[in-house]
Amino acid sequence: MTKYVGILTAGGDSPGLNAAIRGVGKAALGLEMNFIGFRDGFRGLMNNRTMRLDSEQLSGILTVGGTILGTSRDKPHKMPVGDRVMDMTDVMVDTYERHHLDALVCLGGGGTQKNAYRLHQKGLNIITLPKTIDNDVAMTDATFGFDTALGIATEAIDRLHSTAHSHHRIIVVEIMGHNTGWLALGAGIAGGADVILIPEIPYSVEVVAEAIRHRSRRGHRFSIVAVSEGAVSQQMAEKIANLTTVIDESDDSDAQNAAKESLNEVLKEQASNTWSLSRELEALTGLESRVTILGHVQRGGTPSAVDRLLGTRLGTACAELIQEGIFGVMVASQGVEAVPVPLEQVVGKRKSVPSDHPWVMTARRVGTCLGDEI
Ligand code: F6P
Repeated sequence: MTKYVGILTAGGDSPGLNAAIRGVGKAALGLEMNFIGFRDGFRGLMNNRTMRLDSEQLSGILTVGGTILGTSRDKPHKMPVGDRVMDMTDVMVDTYERHHLDALVCLGGGGTQKNAYRLHQKGLNIITLPKTIDNDVAMTDATFGFDTALGIATEAIDRLHSTAHSHHRIIVVEIMGHNTGWLALGAGIAGGADVILIPEIPYSVEVVAEAIRHRSRRGHRFSIVAVSEGAVSQQMAEKIANLTTVIDESDDSDAQNAAKESLNEVLKEQASNTWSLSRELEALTGLESRVTILGHVQRGGTPSAVDRLLGTRLGTACAELIQEGIFGVMVASQGVEAVPVPLEQVVGKRKSVPSDHPWVMTARRVGTCLGDEI
C-alpha cells in the first residue's frame, strides 16, 4: 500500500537542509511513497500550508542553502495565534490525519527534537533528523550545517589575521553556537586563533589579557580572540550557578522570583559580552581592539560537500526506516552508520564540549589560551 509521508524543517535554517529533504524525498519516491512538505516549520502543519514535493521539486536543490520549505521557531504547544499563545498540537494532529499520513519527518536541532517528540506522544509516527550549525544535538556524532559554518568561520578568522596583524590590534571575533563551543573551538583551532573562549570553559579576563601581553612581549603585537556567543566569564558563571540553585531548590517563592530577575539581568549582560570583553582587553593590554560578529553569515549559502553527504546519507536512511515502520526515533550519524535513536534519549539533552575533549587538548597543545590558564 502506498505510504504517505510529510516533512517539515523547524528552528534556525542550516546548510544541508535541502540535501536532506532531497535525500528523504528521492529515497521515499523510489519506495513508491507519496511525499508532501509543510511550510515554515510547525506553523505550516498547524495551518495546513503544504508544498508538493515530487521529483521535479526535489531536483536542483542539493547545492542550495537554507530550506525550500521555509522554517520558523514556532512550538506546537506554545503557538502565537493573534495576540494569544496557544497549545495547537491537536490542530496539528488533525492536519496529519487529514492527509492520511503514515509518517512525519521533522528536521531540526535540540528544540525541534523536543517539539517533534511532543507530537510523537500524541500518537503520530514521527521520525527526525539532526540539523544545526551548533553541533549540539545529543546522540549523534554530527549535525548537518556544522561543517559549512565551520568553514565560513574559519575563513573569517583567516581573513581577520592580516588586518589584525597590519594594525597591531586585538580582534575579538564572535562565533555562533548557542550554549556550546563546538563552532568557536573548531574554527578557532582551524584558523589558528590565539585565544578561544567557549561556554563550557568560563574564562578569566586577566588570563586572556596576560596571554595577549605575553604574545606582545614575544613580538606578536596582534591577537585573534575567537569567542563563542555563549561564552561566560568565571564571575558570570558563578553568578548563574548560584541563582539557578536558588530558582531550582529554594522553597521561598520571593527568593525564587528575585533570583529569576537577577538571572535575567546576568543573561542580558552576557548577550553583550563580546563587546565588554573587547573593551576590557583594550584597557588591560594597551592594544587597540575591534569586534567582528559573524552572525547569520555562518548559516548562509552553499552547503559544504560534508553537509551534503551527511544530509543525503541520513535522509535516505530515514526513508528506509519509514518503510520498516520504525518511528519515535532520530536518525543519528554514528561513525559511518545512520542509526535510529529513540527520541527519549535525545530530547532535553545537549551535547556540550567535554573539558577533556581531544579538540580542547589539541588547542592547549598548540599553545592556544582557553581563558582558564596561560
Ligand atoms: O541554533 C542555530 C543558531 O544559529 C545559533 O547558533 C544562534 O544562537 C541562533 O541560531 C540564532 O537564532 P536566530 O536565527 O533566531 O537569530
